[in-house]
Amino acid sequence: MTNPHPATPARGREITVVGIDGAGKSTLAARLHQALNDAGHDAILVGKHSTEMPMDTELSAYVDRLNALVYRRDARVAQACGDHYWLLALAAWYTLQDKLVIQPALAAGTHVILDNAHHKILARYAVNPKVSTELAEQVFAHLTEPDLTFFLRISARDALARKGEFSSLETGHTGAGDEDFIHYQDIVLEKLREHEQRGGWLSLDVTDMDRDTVFTTAADALTDRLQLTL
Ligand SMILES: Nc1ncnc2c1ncn2[C@@H]1O[C@H](COP(=O)(O)OP(=O)(O)O)[C@@H](O)[C@H]1O
Ligand SMILES: [Mg+2]
Repeated sequence: MTNPHPATPARGREITVVGIDGAGKSTLAARLHQALNDAGHDAILVGKHSTEMPMDTELSAYVDRLNALVYRRDARVAQACGDHYWLLALAAWYTLQDKLVIQPALAAGTHVILDNAHHKILARYAVNPKVSTELAEQVFAHLTEPDLTFFLRISARDALARKGEFSSLETGHTGAGDEDFIHYQDIVLEKLREHEQRGGWLSLDVTDMDRDTVFTTAADALTDRLQLTL
């Protein structure tokens, strides 16, 4: 069969990583990005602070301002604005990231590694009785569905041992002690596991896997499932 649009490149693939704080998401995302580029693929790494729009300084500046509003906030401001506001602000950020960065890249044939999938936010809000779970799911429902989602599974205690330190956000602002981190992250993990039951995620128990083993396991899955050779 001949290609009806010979100038249109094959669509890029979107690959994302979910897991609790300290599971190794950023580590794996960076390795996959590097490996894809080393293998000659076109790939970008998209994270919390990706605000560069190719060749569009005005949009870049706008997205950068939104990023600052959403992520560079102090605790008193966060408290004053409240949970519903932050859910919608995060949804605004994810909406622009999807529309202005991810979708154009995929259409141009560039693969996208997304470090900060929104599922962790959903898991956080699922723990919060003040915000309806349906609302939280709805505001992210329009985002592009990744072609492959890795779920890095590890207990909160083991994740803490890897991280060493953590922020107030990573205890759900419940306290500053190790047990606060462990209690909160174990609830988030439980919510992620509920999501996992719906299917579609490639789940890896990374408790006893070093960085290289996690990477090679994920790289094999990219080849198997998306025919991307590394
Ligand atoms: N497989 C692994 N084994 C041991 N330590 C790891 C592994 N993967 C990542 N780490 C370390 O654990 C910490 C958290 O990793 P990171 O990738 O930042 O997690 P996340 O992005 O999920 O919060 C970092 O210090 C990182 O170097
Ligand atoms: Mg990270």
